[in-house]
Parts: sequence; C-alpha cells; structure tokens
Amino acid sequence: MTATADTAHPLLAESAAGHRRILTGDRPTGPLHLGHYFGTLQNRVQLQSQGLELMIVIPDYQVITDRDRADRLAEHVENLVLDYLAAGVDPARATIFTHSSVPALNQLMLPFLSLVSIAELSRNPTVKDEIAHSRQAAVSGLMFTYPVHQAADILFCKADLVPVGQDQLPHLELTRTVARRFNDRYAAVFPEPQALLSDAPLLLGTDAGKMSKSRGNAIALGADEDETARLLRGAVTDPDRRITYDPDNRPGVSNLLLLSALCQSRDPHEVAEEIGDGGAATLKRTTTEAVNEYFRPLRARRAELATDRALLRDILRTGSARANAIADRTLDEVRAAMGTC
Ligand code: TRP
Repeated sequence: MTATADTAHPLLAESAAGHRRILTGDRPTGPLHLGHYFGTLQNRVQLQSQGLELMIVIPDYQVITDRDRADRLAEHVENLVLDYLAAGVDPARATIFTHSSVPALNQLMLPFLSLVSIAELSRNPTVKDEIAHSRQAAVSGLMFTYPVHQAADILFCKADLVPVGQDQLPHLELTRTVARRFNDRYAAVFPEPQALLSDAPLLLGTDAGKMSKSRGNAIALGADEDETARLLRGAVTDPDRRITYDPDNRPGVSNLLLLSALCQSRDPHEVAEEIGDGGAATLKRTTTEAVNEYFRPLRARRAELATDRALLRDILRTGSARANAIADRTLDEVRAAMGTC
C-alpha cells in the first residue's frame, strides 16, 4: 500500500459531485504531521485524483495574527511544499502559492470588511479561542479580522469546496455571508463555498492531547524511522497489559491503535485483538513498524525532493503566477460590480 490512495472514499465522491475547485491552506509555522496527513492531506490528494482543481494557499500573513514575528518563514513555506508533494499533490495540476505573493487577493479585504459588523467579528468562537491562547499581550486588528482575510483567500478564486477541520467552520460561515452580501449589494460575483470535514477520527499527539506543531507531541510526516521509534516509545499509555480499543477510558493506548490501524487500513479493534496481552511495549513496537512501513515511500520521495530547493521555489513561482491571474480577473469583476474604474 502506498501513501497516495487513488481509490475514492464514497463520502468524498459524494462531496465532490458538482464541485470544481477546492481551496485550502496551512499556516507556515512548522512541518505537517501525521494528524494533518490523515485529517486533510489524504482527502486533498483523493479529491485531486477525482479531477477537482486543487488550490493551496500558504497563508504567511496569518502567522503574525498571534505572534509578533514570523520566524524562519521561507524555510517553513518550502517545507510545506515538500510535505504536499510527498503526500501526492500533483504540482502540474495543483496551484500552490503564498498569500503575500498575490496583491489583488488582498485588495478584496477592503470591500469585504465593509460587509461585516464588529459584532459579528467579536462573536467568532475560533478567534476568541485563538485570542485566549495568543502569545501577544494585546489583540491586534489583524487577529480580529483574519476570518475576513480568509474569506478573501477562498473567494478570490471562487472556490466552491473547502476541506477544513471543525475549528474552521465559523470562518466558512463568515465567508458564505460575505459572498451572499456582496452578491446582494452589487452583482452576483461569488459562489457560496461549502466546507468539507474529514470523517477520519481525530489523531492525538504522543501525550494523548491534541496533536499540534507547537506542543512537542507530534510526529512530523518527514520524521525519519529512528525518530518515529523514539517518539512512539515515549508515548503515553497505561499499565494494563491487555490491549483494548477504548478511546474514552484509554486514550493513549487507543490512539496508538488508531494510528496503527490507519496505516494498515484496518479496524483498531482487530489490531488490539492481535496484540492481546502483549502490553504497551508490543503496541508501541507494532505501531512504529506500521507507521514506518506506510510512510516509507512518502518519506523517500520527500527526501529526494528536499535536495531540489530550486524546484520548490519554481513550484511556488508558477503557483503564484496562476493565482495572480485568477485574482486579477476577480478583482476586475469586483471593481466593475462596484462601479469603480
Ligand atoms: N485559518 C486556517 C488555519 O488556521 C488557514 C487558512 C487560511 C485557510 N486561509 C485558508 C484554510 C483558506 C482554508 C481555506 O488552519
């Protein structure tokens, strides 16, 4: 089994029906991990193989919503491109670009801001949560308004399907509102995009909390086999030697079973039964083997591509040129609809 699944999940096939263009993105704050892979990357590759056009924005401006400086930005951006390509995104068909490289996209921010109220922005639960966890003393205007920026990311290319995690749903709702209000007030320019949630169960970090780039509990897609083994050896489990799949009462053990099962396209209960009374050590060893085996081709591809930084920059340049052409066209339509010249 390779890491690029070509067989369409029935749910995806259904969601894809009638849609043309997908847009999604990842903040360039660190490498993507196994949670991203099973949560969204796999979906994107499958949708692309079903013939949908895939646009991926790397929202570099969004990094400075919750921190003062965007550290090692160029490196993080290139690593994201590597992760996408290694996971099977086809750069000949997909458009991968940074937010900051598309000026016309950012111009949509002004009319869009006029379409939402301060009260609506204040109510956004995801923004509230991010403000609570922010590294900054004061809430910046950018933090407060970034869902509008995100609406511009999505609407500039008239995307109609947006694969995201649950936390992004309020932003999608706002995007739909902006599209509707613009169309009502001026002219029918924008489609109302739909969110596509992954149906894969949520993968936890090695500490059995939310897997996150910034919590030190994630296994990066590009991690090598020894590092994977080391991280999984340190994973939180429990002393009960009998291994069972019970996410509510045994989150650590169950998460390793889930990871193992996802890598082998199996049911986690079945994996548990096979280990039986083998205890946590056997569970960790078999999970490490399953992860390393599944990701071996992806990681080999990643390592090979990593030697060609010029190629990565070239992909971004081409993506940016395509995104700029689309954004210029949309901005022309917006100007015409608003009666500016
Ligand atoms: N806000 C998203 C996140 O924090 C990243 C993002 C920016 C995005 N623009 C987007 C996601 C457009 C989907 C579509 O993960």
